[in-house]
Amino acid sequence: MIKIMKTRKLTRRQAITTTSAGVAGAILGFPFRSFGIKNNLQAKKLALKGGDKVHPGSWPQWPYWDQSAEKGLLEMFRSGRWWRGNGEYVAEFEKKYAVLMGAKRCLATASGTTALITALQVMGVDAGDEVLVSPFTFIATYNVIFSHKALPVFVDSDPETFLIDPKKIEERITDRSVAIVPVHIYGLPVDMDNVNRIAKGHNLKVIEDACQAWLAEYRGKRVGSLGDLGCFSFQNSKHLPAGEGGAILGNDEDIMDLCQAYHNCGRPYGNMKKMPGNAHNGMNYRMQQSQALILMSQMTRIEKDNDIRLSNALYLDKKMKEIPGIVPYKLAEGATRAVYHLYPFRYIKEKFDNVPKETFINALNAEGIPCSSGYGKQNKDGLIEEVFSSKGYKRIYSESRLKQWREENQLPGNDRLSDQAVTFYQSILLGNKSDMDDIANAITKIYENRSSLA
Ligand SMILES: Cc1ncc(COP(=O)(O)O)c(C=O)c1O
Repeated sequence: MIKIMKTRKLTRRQAITTTSAGVAGAILGFPFRSFGIKNNLQAKKLALKGGDKVHPGSWPQWPYWDQSAEKGLLEMFRSGRWWRGNGEYVAEFEKKYAVLMGAKRCLATASGTTALITALQVMGVDAGDEVLVSPFTFIATYNVIFSHKALPVFVDSDPETFLIDPKKIEERITDRSVAIVPVHIYGLPVDMDNVNRIAKGHNLKVIEDACQAWLAEYRGKRVGSLGDLGCFSFQNSKHLPAGEGGAILGNDEDIMDLCQAYHNCGRPYGNMKKMPGNAHNGMNYRMQQSQALILMSQMTRIEKDNDIRLSNALYLDKKMKEIPGIVPYKLAEGATRAVYHLYPFRYIKEKFDNVPKETFINALNAEGIPCSSGYGKQNKDGLIEEVFSSKGYKRIYSESRLKQWREENQLPGNDRLSDQAVTFYQSILLGNKSDMDDIANAITKIYENRSSLA
């Protein structure tokens, strides 16, 4: 039998003081929390069955607004200089982000999706090509491959790391392969030495999907600066949020010039030859001035926030490992710092009397611990069949080629991972150690009461 750990109980006075501090914190831009009712860890009955919650209070809110950004935003709006063409802030953000991430150049974009589309375009991905990609990811990672009329080739996941399994990459390479898109999902760094080594050996480009990995490190270097290009998202839920936004990092001036041109309607840039007429293909994927100003204000807190997330994640790792049937993520070879856009672990239902994962998630949410499933079996996503039955795909790929695709994209490791993955959103990790105790206590409570859920 596992003992539920003792956690903080607040006196009424402490609760009032802490709550007022929380309100003051919210005004100053710090996490808001309210400690209402004290925990009742003695109650054995699960909250899902009408018992008391382990964590009745709130969790830090996300995103935080920094009022000091308001003056600059107001001035910019009043000036009418709203787009990057006649404004200075997007370029200023690009310089700062490149320095922060240790890359030569940065191009800001409208979103992570448009960053990835631009990167694939510049790396030469075209109709009929194949792009090797992690399957345990957000839909945008492979949707962008479809936008180039190419085929995503899913490389199986390592269920322990939640990441692309480098041992499985080589067997998926064909003479149509052009690039690899490893995804540092949840801010967990991929084993980039192995990815880069394999890519080099087969003359493939590497585009890192670092859309959830701002400041994560591999062998002491920031991810997103390790492949040919690295892409980031600044959508509202992200550690560096601006509502929407994205960026591409790169160290090759000519390639970055091509990115700059493509995202700006094809207008030549830097070392590119200026030709008469509109010589280059391109889109409008530009970032706006307001996004850049918000990002520069949010950048002032990301390092401190990541330190808090890391410290809580390491504390939680130790507690989670003690609970039967709960297996936290394992860092990949060479990963030196994760940033936890989500904190992932695997739920082994066999150790919980076969209580389904969905029931476990409902029970944990009922205890006041917000959690959700990880990504699904993306290789079996309905949109893939929709794309395959489109006019364009039928023209480019034969029936037998698509049949072969379906047969080859069976991923036992990723299926297992998808069946077992459970995650906590990043703002949970901005709580305090007692909040982390509540998480472990709630899971332990469910474990002890698993027979009532079976
Ligand atoms: C792994 C991953 N790739 C790509 C994207 C796309 O970024 P955006 O939503 O900014 O277009 C996201 C966004 O959530 C993501 O998490």
